[in-house]
Amino acid sequence: MPHTEREELTPEESDQLLLLPGGHPPLWNHMDSIGSVRLRQREGAPGCSQEGLPCPSDSSELVLECLQQFKVTETQLRQIQASLLGSMEQALGGQASPASAVQMLPTYVGSTPHGTEQGDFVVLELGATGASLRVLWVTLLGIEGHRMEPRSQEFVIPPEVMLGPGQQLFDFAAHCLSEFLDALPVDKEGLQLGFSFSFPCHQTGLDRSTLISWTKGFRCSGVEGHDVVQLLRDAIKRQGAYSIDVVAVVNDTVGTMMGCEPGVGPCEVGLVVDTGTNACYMEEARHVAVLDEDRGRVCISVEWGSFSDDGVLGPVLTTFDHALDRESLNPGAQRFEKMIGGLYLGELVRLVLAHLAQRGVLFGGCTSPALLSRGSILLEHVAEMKDPLAGAARVHAILRDMGLSMGASDAELVQYVCAAVFTRAARLCAAALAAVLARLQHSREQQVLQIAVATGGRVFERYPSFLSILQETVMLLAPECDVSFIPSVDGGGRGVAMVTAVAARLAAHRRLLEETLAPFRLDHEQLAAVRAQMREAMVKGLQGEASSLRMLPTYVRATPDGTERGDFLALDLGGTNFRVLLVRVTAGGVKITSQVYSIPEYVAQGSGQQLFDHIVDCIVDFQQKQGLSGQSLPLGFTFSFPCRQLGLDQGILLNWTKGFNASDCEGQDIVCLLREAIGRRQAVELNVVAIVNDTVGTMMSCGYEDPRCEVGLIVGTGTNACYMEELQNVAAVPGDSGHMCINMEWGAFGDDGSLDSLRTCFDANVDQASINPGKQSFEKMISGMYLGEIVRHILLHLTSLGVLFRGQQTQRLQTRDIFKTKFLSEIESDSLALRQVRTILEDLGLSLTSDDALMVLEVCQAVSQRAAQLCGAGVAAVVEKIRENRGLEELTVSVGVDGTLYKLHPHFSSLVAATVRELAPRCVVTFLQSEDGSGKGAALVTAVACRLAQMAHV
Ligand code: BG6
Ligand code: GLC
Ligand code: GLC
Repeated sequence: MPHTEREELTPEESDQLLLLPGGHPPLWNHMDSIGSVRLRQREGAPGCSQEGLPCPSDSSELVLECLQQFKVTETQLRQIQASLLGSMEQALGGQASPASAVQMLPTYVGSTPHGTEQGDFVVLELGATGASLRVLWVTLLGIEGHRMEPRSQEFVIPPEVMLGPGQQLFDFAAHCLSEFLDALPVDKEGLQLGFSFSFPCHQTGLDRSTLISWTKGFRCSGVEGHDVVQLLRDAIKRQGAYSIDVVAVVNDTVGTMMGCEPGVGPCEVGLVVDTGTNACYMEEARHVAVLDEDRGRVCISVEWGSFSDDGVLGPVLTTFDHALDRESLNPGAQRFEKMIGGLYLGELVRLVLAHLAQRGVLFGGCTSPALLSRGSILLEHVAEMKDPLAGAARVHAILRDMGLSMGASDAELVQYVCAAVFTRAARLCAAALAAVLARLQHSREQQVLQIAVATGGRVFERYPSFLSILQETVMLLAPECDVSFIPSVDGGGRGVAMVTAVAARLAAHRRLLEETLAPFRLDHEQLAAVRAQMREAMVKGLQGEASSLRMLPTYVRATPDGTERGDFLALDLGGTNFRVLLVRVTAGGVKITSQVYSIPEYVAQGSGQQLFDHIVDCIVDFQQKQGLSGQSLPLGFTFSFPCRQLGLDQGILLNWTKGFNASDCEGQDIVCLLREAIGRRQAVELNVVAIVNDTVGTMMSCGYEDPRCEVGLIVGTGTNACYMEELQNVAAVPGDSGHMCINMEWGAFGDDGSLDSLRTCFDANVDQASINPGKQSFEKMISGMYLGEIVRHILLHLTSLGVLFRGQQTQRLQTRDIFKTKFLSEIESDSLALRQVRTILEDLGLSLTSDDALMVLEVCQAVSQRAAQLCGAGVAAVVEKIRENRGLEELTVSVGVDGTLYKLHPHFSSLVAATVRELAPRCVVTFLQSEDGSGKGAALVTAVACRLAQMAHV
């Protein structure tokens, strides 16, 4: 037998090495009374050693020598603890870990149970206990209710199923489920199942879990790398007897932890020693690199079975461990588990006994076929045989059944072997648990850790001495931790039901979210219908028939030709900012100097006189600052509201839109109102040449760079479009040749009810609360002034359903306009992690979980996607009309665009473009973002007008 280096032990250390059950003195004390070595000859027999056999006293020494290998010193235990802790911390930090390291798998369980969970659940347990599969019916009665004993049934999985195709295993599980349920008075529909699957898995949700690799006695083909929940769902469907929703999947350690009856504090560690061994614990989420979450805790399955740092485990591994590993289903893997898990302890004992028999130390030097066969000694045999009282009798019975004949001292020696293997397992397990406790101490920054550990698995349930050794060793290794061990309830089944209850609640919330958002998800037919209705409304509007589209002539007949020159003033009113601009058009290009002024709400919604006086004050201020006082520059006025124009410098305000509502303006010529205000201010001289809608300004501004720009689009505070129409189609303006730019005022599209089938109750709420109910239907579904409000109304609704914010309505969320459209742009940014989404919402005064944050994100996406698609359907109608006007097979056209929503939202522009491609496939549309605002366009319109006027004078 090859020797392993061993350090010298102090007598105290030695005492702790081989704690024997039930007060047996340590073996070496016993050895003192054993006499000197005597050899005796023995007849050769089949299966018997032919060598000289030692006498019984020598046997004890040889057994001792052999069992020395199973001693693990306190120093070694501490090294294992430290190395395991290092491996855990590396894996948490996301450093690529070698196969020998622990995996630290997040489980999507974020909190220990509240105790409020309720309902009936089916639990299916696979993989925890050897070749058996268990089905349970668990009823949770919430805080008030008493605990009800679950119904359960165990099924033995045939060996060929454990090693066969995966489908066969899952079909077997589905069959067991049906058989179990057949015996219960339950409905065949709507059952909710929690799946306890005790193998290392990558979880990507509470009900999505990919098997990394089989461990323990399983090796079914076609399962590794696949989602085991889906495999189970498929099998249940194939089976067909019951409709069962697989709601959650959990590791057995998690079930153990979650099912633990909360004592003084919650149980935050789950420890399992069954066929295999593993633990889970609640980690601070911010320490889990893969999670990108900075708050709260998450349950991590350590998967310590795979720990096998050669440096610290190497000296501890015996020749028997190596032999066991070689013969296992997964050689080289799960080396730590193979020293602790119940699947392996019997096998280790068998290997030691066979070795000792072959060395002539036991059974008169005889082996038997059973002793030489894998799996003939089981965990229960080991536990029974090492029992100090009944153990000797069991040794005789068990070994006799294996065809072995016992010598006088053999029974006692076999008991030592069993105790050594069992004790080592418990001590190694304690070192691993001590590593988890140290990790908890680090992450919680606590000197003294008070913690409850839920224990589960057959080894704990049936062999209390395992826990005693473990406890004692933990006290030695982690004296500063105050650990209470609490046995799991119903073998973890209750915990699985708890997780399932939470998952079921989340799934129900998701369904409600989907139902709420469904009306926002428009399909191709709906969008094509919007395009068609828009087209119809355009034609009617142009012909002067009743239509929600006013199709206002702008008297802009041409885009700039580049020969325009001069200095112009421009005003830009109606968007986020009010601006005064000085625009210098020279041969070298356009130079702009501008200043933003605010229009307070009381001015925007006060009297018209007050508004126009304020505007003139701003102009005067600007002129003074720019040294323009006393000069009468031609002025272009971007006025972003619907105006009926009778010429370039005449615009009668039809009605205010967006946030404006100044009195005595509707029905008035805006240029007159401005001139009157100038008159009141006496000091200034202004020459108002043109009034221009922002869409027109944007089209002109982009048209200066690209002559193909024949459409102007605004998606900002409001939304609107203009385009170059054939004059012959414009009933309101005489003339049959040439073009005229038409301000569609498409914000009002749908005001005749044509969009009603698409409008949701949230749109209705936003409309009702606006200053112009019943008006601007299309705009209210698209533009920046309203999207945040739509989102806010949806969030209020989801809160009332209990889906969001734990059902708690807050004053904050009930405040109008609290949710600005710029938040949609920020929240939907791809570069933003969920936790940043959460921060934005928390800054708004909303307190929320990560689940809440994800749902808010989805709400924002649905609302902005609908907006972009509706806008795209509108653009498709416009470009198609231009194409048909010109009788072209294919139209190449550019659209000048401006507006904060279009420019700032991360996906709006690409969604608009995609929709246009889909709905206007015969148009090649380029979108040009206007850089200088529509003020520049207004100046250009003015410049064109001045050029034309000069030409007329010549
Ligand atoms: C700019 C114009 O081009 O876009 C404004 O200069 C216009 O007058 C605006 O109304 C639209 O964007 P927003 O987001 O400011 O409403
Ligand atoms: C194995 C599995 C692990 C499980 C443990 C106890 O180590 O890989 O997932 O928790 O056995 O059953
Ligand atoms: C509103 C106005 C319209 C303007 C649009 C974009 O819809 O009525 O004139 O073009 O907002 O600012």
